[in-house]
Parts: sequence; C-alpha cells; structure tokens
Amino acid sequence: MRGASRAVRREGKRLALVPTMGALHEGHLSLVRAARAACDVVAASIFVNPTQFGPNEDLAKYPRSFERDCEMLEREGVEFVFAPSVEEMYPAGAVTWVTVEELSGKLDGGSRPGHFRGVTTVVAKLFHIVEPDKAFFGQKDAAQVAIIRRMVRDLNLAVEIVVCPIVREADGLAMSSRNAYLGPEERKRALVLHRALVRVQRMVEAGERDVGPLSAAGIYEFARESSVRLDYFEIVNPDTLDPVEDVSRGALVAVAAYVGATRLIDNILLGPAKSDNHEGH
Ligand code: PAF
Repeated sequence: MRGASRAVRREGKRLALVPTMGALHEGHLSLVRAARAACDVVAASIFVNPTQFGPNEDLAKYPRSFERDCEMLEREGVEFVFAPSVEEMYPAGAVTWVTVEELSGKLDGGSRPGHFRGVTTVVAKLFHIVEPDKAFFGQKDAAQVAIIRRMVRDLNLAVEIVVCPIVREADGLAMSSRNAYLGPEERKRALVLHRALVRVQRMVEAGERDVGPLSAAGIYEFARESSVRLDYFEIVNPDTLDPVEDVSRGALVAVAAYVGATRLIDNILLGPAKSDNHEGH
C-alpha cells in the first residue's frame, strides 16, 4: 500500500483515503464520491478494527461482505483497496497506542471505554501507511470526527480531514452497517432517534435556545418509545464535546440508543442562531 501510495504521489497526484470497516452502504459511497471529486486517486481501507470493540461488543458478528464491498468500490472507480489482516495491523507484542485524552471519554467514549483509543490508533496507523493528502469521514460519527481532528492537529499529521453529511434512508434513519441487525419491528422503532433530533431542530427553528427544554423534548420522545433504551442524549460543542447551556453559537445534538441489542447513533449539527450573527454590528 505504501509503495502504491508513494508512486501516486511521485506522479504529483493527490491521494484520498476513505477508511471503512466494510459492510458498505450509500453513506460510505458518498465519502468515496467526495474523495473522487477532491483527489486524483482514491484508496479505501476495509478493516474491522478489533481494538475499537469492547469485550462484550459485536466484533465477532460485525457484518462482513468483502467481495460485495470490493465490487461496490470498483464500480465507483476506487483505485486501491487496502484490506490488511489483524496480524498485519497488530503484530504480536504491539503495545503502542494513540490516545486523544479527555475527548475520548465523552459521548460514545463514556459508554464504550477504550473505543476511541482503538479508533485513533488504527486511524493514525492508516494515515502512516497510506499517507493520503485528504481523508474522508462521515458526520454520523460526530465524536469520532472531533477526536480525529484533534489528533491530526495535536500530532501535526499532514492530512486534511474532510467530513461528509449523514446519508439517511427515505424515512430518516441514518445509514449504518449496524442497521442490518434490525428486525422489521426494530427497524420501525429505530426511527425514534431521528424523530427526537427533528423535534429539537424544530424547537430551535421556532426560537428556543436553552438546552434544558431542548434536551427534555428529545428525551421525552424516547420515553414515548419505551422499548428503545436511551444511552445518551447530549447537546455539546462539536469540537470539544463539552455540554453547552444554550445553542446560540451552534451545537451538536448527539444521541445513542439501544434498539433491542443494536446500539445506534445519530446527530444533527445546529448552526449559530441568525440573530447572533448580527450582534454588535
Ligand atoms: O468509522 C469507522 O468505520 C471506523 O471507526 C474507522 C474510522 C474506519 C476506524 O476503524
């Protein structure tokens, strides 16, 4: 992979990396298309990274569809697929980690201890192996995005992070490889995540700025869908992941919930309130 990537760069071409864990869907393809538009050559990695799964999580049953994924990537004109083995990525005796302190314990990091340490370690390794000019990530993993951006900044990594919008099914469910776990009834109940976010967005559009009533309204949607277990519903600064008290300057509204045994996440980004843009002018 490194040889191929250096050959691309020797020709003066710009290389994009789309890191994935496979089980590709339209969300991933939107990243590939953005990469294609921004760079001359596109590489995608497919690696189900064991270090970002907790001991009781779904590593063993995580959906794997390598042949289908490769066909999809080929149809999109992706030049390189990097699909290393676990032994290649984590040779025996590997004890070095990349940790973004503080942020890694927030949002999903609070409920999935060690998850983001696994993510930042493997993403740092992918960046070193592929040496891309730009790397493409989905906004659906909002905490991951904040943490990877911070890692790139703190470690002076020579890669530009590009974040692409969430891709949704027609009824609003955010696309996720884990949606494949949902039975038909669960699939319907999973819509509560999007419903709660839309409710908050409408309140903000109607002028509400205080996080208290906004959170309460979002959480209330979950109370009405009692078969779905809320993990967190938080309104935070999208860069620091710290809670905010009001959303006038923009905020990330992030949610995680268990639909049956399946943990789903979703979020919306609220922009700064229009009236605030004119303050002091
Ligand atoms: O978002 C993902 O699919 C994974 O967390 C990533 C970035 C490929 C690292 O394993």
